[in-house]
Formats: sequence, C-alpha cells, structure tokens
Amino acid sequence: MALQRPKGTQDHLPDGSSGSHSKAARSDTRAEAFAHVTETARRILTRGGARLIQTPIFEEADLVRRGVGGSTDIVRKEMFTVHYFGDHGGFILRPEGTAGIVRAYLENGLKQWPSPLKLWTHGPMFRAENVQKGRLRQFHQVDYEVIGVADALIDAEAIALMVEVVQTLGLKGARVKLGSIGDPADRETYNGYLRETFTPHFERLSDDSKDRLERNPMRILDSKSQTDQALIAELGVRPMLDFLGEAAAGHFTQVRGYLDAWGVGYDLDPSIVRGLDYYRRTAWELHHEGVGAKSALGGGGRYDGLSAELGGPEIPAVGWAFGIERLLIALDAEGIELPQQAGPLLFIAALDPEHTGLAAQIALQVRAVASAEFAYRALKPGNVFKEAERRRATYAALIGSEEAASGSVTLKHLQNGTQHHVNVNDLNAFLLEPS
Ligand code: HAM
Repeated sequence: MALQRPKGTQDHLPDGSSGSHSKAARSDTRAEAFAHVTETARRILTRGGARLIQTPIFEEADLVRRGVGGSTDIVRKEMFTVHYFGDHGGFILRPEGTAGIVRAYLENGLKQWPSPLKLWTHGPMFRAENVQKGRLRQFHQVDYEVIGVADALIDAEAIALMVEVVQTLGLKGARVKLGSIGDPADRETYNGYLRETFTPHFERLSDDSKDRLERNPMRILDSKSQTDQALIAELGVRPMLDFLGEAAAGHFTQVRGYLDAWGVGYDLDPSIVRGLDYYRRTAWELHHEGVGAKSALGGGGRYDGLSAELGGPEIPAVGWAFGIERLLIALDAEGIELPQQAGPLLFIAALDPEHTGLAAQIALQVRAVASAEFAYRALKPGNVFKEAERRRATYAALIGSEEAASGSVTLKHLQNGTQHHVNVNDLNAFLLEPS
C-alpha cells in the first residue's frame, strides 16, 4: 500500500511542537494558517452582515452541470463523480460553492429572509486539473454570495469586502482586475463578432480553441496556447467592453463610480473572461504576482441568471471566492507569516510516578483559565524543562515529594528563567498575572 496522499491534495498539518518545521509542514499546509484565514474572513464578512452557510461537498450532477455550465472546462474535463453501491451514478464533488448555495437558498425558502441575503462559506472544492503550483485537485475557498438585489452598490460592496479580507491578512500586492461581460444579448452579439473574426483563421487555432469557436468563443480569449494569443493580438480582437448594451454599460459605470469614491483600487480589464458560464455584467479577478499571471487569487461576478437556470425564479445575485492555498502562496511571496498556534501556558510534570495523577489534576484545574498540558509519566527535573520547551509552553511546573506534601508547585518561566513556589490554590490567579 502506497503511503501517499492522492496527487493534487495536501495534508493540513498541526504547527510543529519543536518550533522547527519539517519540509512537509511548510506554510502552505499549515492547518492553523487555514484557520486564521477563515477566522479573519468570518470577522470581516460577519461585520458586513453575512451569515455562515454550509452545503454538502457533493451535489446532483445535473445541478453542477447546469450551474457551472456545459461549455466550461470544469464540466467537460474536471469533474470528480461520486459512486456508491446501487446509486444512480449522478453525484459530483463540488467544483465550486455558488451553485450549491443557490440550490440551498431555493430549496430552503431563504427568499423569505430580509433581502439581500448575504451568505459566506468556506471549505474544500474539487477539480481534476493538471496539478502544478497553486493548482490542486482538492483546494479550499472562502466564498461570499449576496442574493436578491440587482443594484450596482452590492457589486461594489462585494469587491470592497474581498479586498478588505486579503488586506487585513497583511497582503499588499493584490490587484482587482475589473470588467463586465454584459447581458446575455450583449454576449451573443460579441460571440457573433468573435466567430466572424476567427472563422477565416480556423486552421491556425489550437484544437481546444477550434472546439470553443462553436460552443463559447469568448473562452478563446482565455486560451493558454501561445499561438492562440499571438493570433488574438495579430487580429486586434476588440474587447467585450466595446459590446456592452446600454443597461450593462450603465451598471458598470455605477460599480466603478462607487469603487472610485470609496478609494478601492482596481485595474480595468476590458476583455475579462471567467471560467464559469453563469456570470452576467460585473466580473472581476483578484491577481497577485506571487501566484503568477495565469492564475487568479480569486474571482467573482454577478450571476443574475443562475437561479432561473436551476429551475427557480429570476433572482439577482453577486459573489466571489478566493482560493486559500493561493492566498497563502501570495502571503508567502510577500514574506508574511500567519500566526502559529501558541504553546500551552503551563506544562506540568511529577518527579515520582505516585504524583502523576496530582500533576494531571492541577492541569485540569488550570484549564478553567488557560491552556495546560501534563506529563503522562514521571520525568527527571531536567526533562520537565526540556519537554515544556518542546511544547513551547510559557511555564514549566514540577511536583516533587515536598511540593506534593505542601500543596504547591515549583514554577519556572521558561523565557526569563524566574522561579516561584506557588500554592496550588493560588496557581490559576498567579498564571493570569502579566509575567
Ligand atoms: P473561480 O474563479 O473558478 O470562481 O475560483 C475562485 C478561486 O478558487 C480561484 O481564483 C482560485 O484562487 C481558486 N481555485 C480555483 N481552482 C483552483 C485549483 N484547481 N487549485 C487551487 N485553487 C483554485 C468560483 O469558483 C466562483 N464560484 C466564484 C464566485 C462566487 N462567483 C460568484 N460567487
């Protein structure tokens, strides 16, 4: 049996107790770093009125296909299907969170709640992609969705919140690339223009793009093939933004107006293409040098048509998600370290086997006010301090026969070396004093 995790997945490991990290425990796989990101997102998004929602990590295949869109790489090449004995073969590990959240919104009647309803979630997503740096098969997103309001103010607020989350984590170099992909009719006009433009040069397109020309010509613009990109430049292909109808153009101007007024920076991206079919109007990506030009740190947009696509009424909505692994790569590139889990305030050990139960009892008492660990067997005095240091404890305490007889402990502050005899009854109060 190979002791190896599946390709494109990561273990999220606890912070090293010895203080030095093994190669496997690099920052991109620190469980505490993930928790810090989701905690920060929770704080900021909750202040903005968002409520936490969690949906299953697998959904009906049809929901994912209809939600994400049949012409996307995700649906065509990257779906993990789920089978169990006697099933109808129709489940998929979610490649993203939005379709499941809109399904939950419709199914649970959340439409009755005050509008707009702001929801956020975090968790694993699955895409069977070619694995490389920042491109995993199980990755994690923080995701924010606002359902029920079509106003441009909501788009601008969503973008501002996304930027605030990553900036609060310390990231400086993230840039929003903002564009609009128009209303469906605008997109049809644009796709017609793209077909006209590319068809005479069909033979020069990559195989993937030949395929895209019929199904979704806009995806050609997003092609990773250099010959496609050279052809696009040579033909001077006009951007989507030139084809916005009056309504979508007006909406986009409003979004930009709010962001400008609030001082939220962005770069205009006139030809933004997103990898999911449900977007309308506002679309954006968050980019960072550390992640590379081809991959985004996050992305989002308006998706007013998704609810109806899934069989519900027309409900306007907008949202975004960023990848936690990619965010950690970007933070790493800027030299920003997220906090590690602190060691216990107290590590306590007995010097004789007959007192190990007493050491444990004192640790249990201290846990009423602080974190405390104890040794499960008796230790030599020197080893008490060594073990305490390995656990990055603040204090080491030991119990010999004298301490046991007098109901006290010998306490050493490991950083400044000061020692105290403290009565067990006074220990909790003592530990809470600033050292
Ligand atoms: P997305 O652009 O497909 O959008 O993914 C958002 C983010 O998830 C990406 O920018 C990236 O950071 C991360 N991500 C995607 N694929 C991978 C991968 N294979 N490995 C590592 N990270 C990855 C969505 O998923 C939309 N649901 C966002 C949204 C919410 N739009 C509206 N509401």
